[in-house]
Amino acid sequence: MNYYVLTLFPEMIRQAAGTSILGRAIRGGRIQVHTVNIRDYSVNKHMRVDDYPYGGGAGMVMEAEPVCRAIEAAERETGQGTRVVYLTPQGKVLNQTVVEELAGEENLILLCGHYEGIDERVLEEKVTDYISIGDYVLTGGELGALVLIDAVSRFVPGVLSNEESAQFESLQDNLLEYPHYTRPEEWRRKKVPEVLLSGDHRRIEEWRREKSLERTRERRPDLLERSFQVTGGWFGGENCGVLVRSLTDAVSRYGSCLDLNRKKIRRQGRVFGERELLILGLDPEAETPEDGRPWRNLRGRGTPLVLVFPKAGQEPPAAEEMEKQGFRVLTVFSGSLQKLSEETREYAIQIRKNLENL
Ligand code: ADE
Repeated sequence: MNYYVLTLFPEMIRQAAGTSILGRAIRGGRIQVHTVNIRDYSVNKHMRVDDYPYGGGAGMVMEAEPVCRAIEAAERETGQGTRVVYLTPQGKVLNQTVVEELAGEENLILLCGHYEGIDERVLEEKVTDYISIGDYVLTGGELGALVLIDAVSRFVPGVLSNEESAQFESLQDNLLEYPHYTRPEEWRRKKVPEVLLSGDHRRIEEWRREKSLERTRERRPDLLERSFQVTGGWFGGENCGVLVRSLTDAVSRYGSCLDLNRKKIRRQGRVFGERELLILGLDPEAETPEDGRPWRNLRGRGTPLVLVFPKAGQEPPAAEEMEKQGFRVLTVFSGSLQKLSEETREYAIQIRKNLENL
């Protein structure tokens, strides 16, 4: 990942990015953080880059021309089509889904403003994304750019070591992390919860999920409202099952899976709620069950549905019926099994984005 940070204070970026894990990632060649000093593109003999606002009022405004030239200098390195992110309190508030999506880019141009803002015309011309790091006003975009670089770089392969990397961030599920403990087993008469010493991984996972939920309910009920319980379901060959399972796992840490090849599961029937997501994989090669429709016992109540159909150039047969059964088809992923398997991560990001917009 290559970042190009356009700023009036390049030293601030270099200093911060040069330390700790980011510093290690730069030295290891995993990421590059280039700074472009906007002042170098001043069109004024005193190297000024700001001027008074038309219409009057307090503060100064950064001029369009130096900002535009600085962006174009970065674009000469990255090529056209690179996303230009303007850090501003007026942007979309950065979250884990946006971070993960940005991590899919090869290059990012980050524009840091100062003073009252930047001439609107260059923003209209050049900026592709407006991002805020929170609902407060900073003195400039540099800290925002650093926050973004830090969060995005965690997703760049090799930036985190195995121990440092969380396989899955709970925030991707709109949940807070469960509590953590390390030695000693008893500290100032406080004991580590017994279940964590049990060695029973199922129980431990269940306990962690409970704690995550409890904590989110207490501390961030707003997050919980946006959280979805994810279930995968598949009918057909093992490959389809593996695909659905890996997509379910990429969307949610706590997803579960239904094997619809099993008569018992098909007969049981299931009703999904509004805050659930069903990812349904239907293998076109599979032999039709006796009733012809392995999905007939699944009911939704406005439940979002993702259909996975591992066959290129064809629509899955179930879409219309599933709508009648109370689901809302969010997306259909169809294509060869290989393509679908290779792009699981991209699909998972897309699904999370779709869920955010519901
Ligand atoms: N620049 C000033 N305030 C900001 C914020 N909250 N987020 C990103 N950039 C900013």
